[in-house]
Amino acid sequence: MTGLNEKNGVLHVDDVSLTRIADEAGTPAYIYSAAHIKSQYQRLSDALKKAIPADRQPLLCYACKANSNLAVLALLRSLGCGLEIVSQGELQRGLSAGFDPNVIVSTGVGKSDSEIRALLGANIHQINVESLPELERINDIATEIGASADVVLRLNPNVSGGGHHKISTGREHDKFGISEDKVFEGYAMAEEMEGVNIVGLSIHIGSQVFTVESFEPAFKKLASVVEALRNDGYEVSRLDIGGGFPIQYDNENLLDLDAYAKWVNEIIVPLDTEIIMEPGRYLVGNAGALLSRVEYVKEGTSRKFLVIDAAMNDLLRPALYDAYHGIEPVQNRDAGVQTYDIVGPICETGDTFSQDRELPSMSQGDLLVLKSAGAYGYCMASNYNTRGRPPEILVSGDSYEVIRPRESVEDILEKETIPGWLRT
Ligand SMILES: Cc1ncc(COP(=O)(O)O)c(C=O)c1O
Repeated sequence: MTGLNEKNGVLHVDDVSLTRIADEAGTPAYIYSAAHIKSQYQRLSDALKKAIPADRQPLLCYACKANSNLAVLALLRSLGCGLEIVSQGELQRGLSAGFDPNVIVSTGVGKSDSEIRALLGANIHQINVESLPELERINDIATEIGASADVVLRLNPNVSGGGHHKISTGREHDKFGISEDKVFEGYAMAEEMEGVNIVGLSIHIGSQVFTVESFEPAFKKLASVVEALRNDGYEVSRLDIGGGFPIQYDNENLLDLDAYAKWVNEIIVPLDTEIIMEPGRYLVGNAGALLSRVEYVKEGTSRKFLVIDAAMNDLLRPALYDAYHGIEPVQNRDAGVQTYDIVGPICETGDTFSQDRELPSMSQGDLLVLKSAGAYGYCMASNYNTRGRPPEILVSGDSYEVIRPRESVEDILEKETIPGWLRT
């Protein structure tokens, strides 16, 4: 069994007990299952292989904003994955993890001069352009250095896709992408440019998209724009259809990947282009857990609090998106049920992981996990309240490695300087 599982009454990740990790690495700690990441990649690529002819298989570019630890990147690279990046930092990570630039695609609404220079210098597969001024800037820089960049224009299809308004990216009032009419303008502009080679379109409507029907209007819009561009004499040889595949946080009905793949085969494959997809959360989300220890059981006037040692600086999603994470005790898993508010130690009321959560009765010192924390977890962590970020740990079978150590307060303070005039 991959990922979180119970053995002899104790929660494990793969074959490593979480009590062992807590004893050896401390808490809080992020723990990822290599086997689960592999099996997610396999599930997605198998669904695509089943539905789509071999010579039309999409290039899967892992959206590494979800979890950009070098070890996770190297694991996905070893499986044959490409990479989607959104910053110069992620480019550097991708290259450090050994990705061939030719399988890296770059998105992002605010690419700076220096980022564009780095993307052009690395000669990545394509730049997904989010605005016409960005197209001009890429062309200017590419012309200056004698480069030519393959670009696609990110179409904003004006549809709502994500599972929460803050992770929906394809509505016309969202900052992402280019409206349909401006896509034609962009194509016309690009045709006149020396520094860009326009090859197609991209789209990404949001995250946690649960049904094929939710993708449908966006993909149909994409197909109709492709047709219209071709009617105008433009070449469209590449389509990047984004990510957004959902994972289990609670008891959601998940996207039927087979139906999705079949549908890509019906709507996108006939457009006869290279196809790229950008799965993020799906590959890593359920593979990760945040291990934490109960500091106090606090009886409030009207509520019982579990004050744990993980906080919103470690896992921001509940505070940012009111996100639900399953929570389970590591031991004593069949104790009588109690109702708790589960909170961190940070000085914000928003530092609350869950209210009115029923859990087996817990005591000070007990361990618990926040589940499905492998995506948009560590990578959003901060040093708020001068808390060092937790370690990241990768489990493989019955062994584990710390793939990023716990950050100490010294690590944080060493970057700060008191000006001479303030030193006594
Ligand atoms: C352009 C783009 N592609 C892919 C993704 C990955 O989305 P997900 O993790 O839901 O698959 C995102 C997420 O924000 C994105 O902005």
